[in-house]
Amino acid sequence: MAKRILVAGSSNIDFLLTTPYIPAPGETLISGGKYAFTPGGKGANAAIAAKAMGADVIFCSRVGDDAYGDRLIALFNERGIDTRYIKVDRLEQTGLAVVMLEKSGTNRIIVFSGANSKICDTDVEAAFSAYPDAVLTQFEIRPDAVIAAARTAAYEGIPFFVDAGPADAEFPLAKLEQVEVFSPNETETEILTGIRPNNLENCLRASIALCNKVDIKYVVLKLGERGCYIYDGKYCDLISPYDVPVVDTTAAGDVFTAALTTEYLRTNDIISSAKFANAAGALAVTKLGAVNSVPTLEEVRKLIG
Ligand code: RIB
Repeated sequence: MAKRILVAGSSNIDFLLTTPYIPAPGETLISGGKYAFTPGGKGANAAIAAKAMGADVIFCSRVGDDAYGDRLIALFNERGIDTRYIKVDRLEQTGLAVVMLEKSGTNRIIVFSGANSKICDTDVEAAFSAYPDAVLTQFEIRPDAVIAAARTAAYEGIPFFVDAGPADAEFPLAKLEQVEVFSPNETETEILTGIRPNNLENCLRASIALCNKVDIKYVVLKLGERGCYIYDGKYCDLISPYDVPVVDTTAAGDVFTAALTTEYLRTNDIISSAKFANAAGALAVTKLGAVNSVPTLEEVRKLIG
């Protein structure tokens, strides 16, 4: 039977703009590329990816009472996500992310939080009425909401998964209880620990630093084209990446963590789940957009071979 994952997180519309490079201060640059308004948000990307990977997903989020909010809720319903715990906030606009995408596939993102900034502890606590088997969250919502998710998951005795994006050095990590998997990317690792995980020694140092701040079972560092690094408090492992053409890295990390969570709940095997997540994340970088780049389960299994 499919596991039920409660995803507590943000929903955005992404304003995606391709650019040859990031302009200097005072410079006006003609993009010469394309733009689109597409669905995104770290929570929404994770919810849609977990569903695509075979989980039953309950999504706790907020959108504004506007056309973007309507569009996002319609999409979640269309994908078979339980939307009962998504609130339509009448005072805030739907979140918006400006995604500047360079030719290399690298992005820079600025987020206007809007309704996401109102997702609170009681929103998250209410969503536990849907009896999830696990909880997955990110840091694109308020700390009290993330901490409530951790606390309630611990109380209910269900595993709690964290995608550490976007990282905030001020986040009170010590308030998170019993994290099953804590997964930051390279930048987030550096913000949270002061250590750039640019070689194996630094991956280990950063993982130990994280474990000294939070009660974590598995640290899984997302290293982009270097794959991912797993640390369980004793042993470590570097899992090789898949070699794919890079179009757009947006949401690859969100897809990775959602796939890791779903496969880990299915198998209870962190190594094979990390390989599975590497494949899902790799497929996500081959397509433009956030939600639009989420692969199917069949595509992931085919890549793994
Ligand atoms: O991780 C990618 C996401 O970050 C984008 O979809 C954007 O909405 C921002 O939240």
